[in-house]
Amino acid sequence: MTFTPLAPTIRAEPTEVAPDTFVIHSVQPAFGAPLFVHLNSMVIRGAEPMIVDTGTIANRTQWLEDAFSLVEPDDVRWVFLSHDDVDHAGNLDEVMTACPNATLVCTWAMVERHTNAFHFPLDRCRWVVDGDSLDIGDRTLQAIRPPVYDSPTTRGLYDPTTQVYWSVDTFAVPLPDAHAQIADLEAGFWGEVMAMFALGGVSPWLSAIDQVKFGAIVDRVQGLDITTIAGCHTPAIEGQFIEQAFELVRNLPTLDPPALPDQSMLEQVITASARPAD
Ligand SMILES: [Fe+2]
Ligand SMILES: [Fe+2]
Repeated sequence: MTFTPLAPTIRAEPTEVAPDTFVIHSVQPAFGAPLFVHLNSMVIRGAEPMIVDTGTIANRTQWLEDAFSLVEPDDVRWVFLSHDDVDHAGNLDEVMTACPNATLVCTWAMVERHTNAFHFPLDRCRWVVDGDSLDIGDRTLQAIRPPVYDSPTTRGLYDPTTQVYWSVDTFAVPLPDAHAQIADLEAGFWGEVMAMFALGGVSPWLSAIDQVKFGAIVDRVQGLDITTIAGCHTPAIEGQFIEQAFELVRNLPTLDPPALPDQSMLEQVITASARPAD
């Protein structure tokens, strides 16, 4: 049976965001809006190469090609799963099958929640929770939960060697152009779409939580010595933009969640797609 993706992705070449650290991209058109969303994962090509998240089902063929153009399957020693959402775990089975020498870095909670969809090879698993470290030969990574997340299993990943932080779903933004970079976004627009994504699509409860307590969570991550933020739904964030990004996130509890598209919007989309072309 041929798989026809319901959410086709737009090609974007992998980018090197730090020495031996590559982000694998695909870009998905947003539903019902002229916006585009990154669906990223990462490869760290160190002494013991690691794949961080496993892309989406819709982009499977291209994702596997991209990942294994950066690292040979037999050389992959670690597969870090940030959480068990389908946009991060889409090719988990394929990766663990293709990479016989890889250990899956996951958690008890992931096994509990996701075991109905994936047969965890328990003897190839390493359970790493928020606050744990992981030695991968030439560097010791730190699992640090990001401030904005949509699964209780979420852990981000900080590499002190390159100062890259994998922020998972934090800093997610839809883009006006499939290939736009953070520097292309006006500051006001960046804050607006980050709030829309965080409060409308990832963590709507942020508007109900204590700002001071949340600030301490933001401080913990911002206190890492980060020079590059790589995340699943954002172009890389670097330089002056890092501080701005944290301030935008810090402000989220002060905002109200946006109104989300409802049935009338769905009917408009269906009517528009059924209309014969001119
Ligand atoms: Fe998620
Ligand atoms: Fe995500």
